[in-house]
Amino acid sequence: MTMEARERLIFALDVDSLAEAEGWVQRLQGKVGIYKVGKQLFTRCGPQVVENIRRQGGEVFLDLKYHDIPNTVAMAVVEAARLGVKMVNVHALGGLEMMQAAVAAVDRLFPRGSAGRPVLLAVTVLTSSTAETLRAVGIDRPVEEMVPRLARLAQQAGIDGVVASPREVDLIRRVCGEAFQIVTPGVRPADASLDDQKRVMTPGEAITAGADYLVIGRPISAAADPAAAADRILQEMASALAGRR
Ligand code: C5P
Repeated sequence: MTMEARERLIFALDVDSLAEAEGWVQRLQGKVGIYKVGKQLFTRCGPQVVENIRRQGGEVFLDLKYHDIPNTVAMAVVEAARLGVKMVNVHALGGLEMMQAAVAAVDRLFPRGSAGRPVLLAVTVLTSSTAETLRAVGIDRPVEEMVPRLARLAQQAGIDGVVASPREVDLIRRVCGEAFQIVTPGVRPADASLDDQKRVMTPGEAITAGADYLVIGRPISAAADPAAAADRILQEMASALAGRR
């Protein structure tokens, strides 16, 4: 079954209270399928925010980017899966063994193909990192080499996909194939402010490039009419999806 645009639109819930989170899920009801809960909101509000979103009918991408020793990450991912999140992520830089441990722990709780199994994602190189950032931590390789290399490593570990810049979709598809899931932030409709994002693509371009899911925050949250902004984004995604089939 092909996924509709709304199931591919992830709203970045970059707020710091249960009340604000609830307000956004309410406002975007029927438009956004998945809400991204990051470190700020989760640290402030805890698992309650995940429960609330799910009670309101939304799915959750728990964006906590785990990176620790294999056992610790595996146990954390299991707790995320128990919360009923749809997606959760780890840092690929944590290594093959760490990612394998996370996958194995989820496999025990929710065997592949079972309902309730979360999509396990890896972050390759943060888009805030440059060659300079990598060099300073002893990685002497260009970002364009590290991204596909880490994506492939994640895939070898059994991870389902990666979070990446829309500009990296092509590089990743070349090494990981079509079934690997790609989630892209850094998306801006043609008429929206860039905010602090630098190298962006429009929703249509990102879908055409082969992204599976788009993470979008301020183009919706800062719009005069957020529901209408979400509708326009969904329409653009739907036309691009139709062209892809
Ligand atoms: O408001 P905006 O659409 O820029 O929100 C994008 C969301 O995706 C934010 O929560 C941001 O932290 C996150 N993100 C990103 N770029 C990455 C990874 C995550 O913008 N490379």
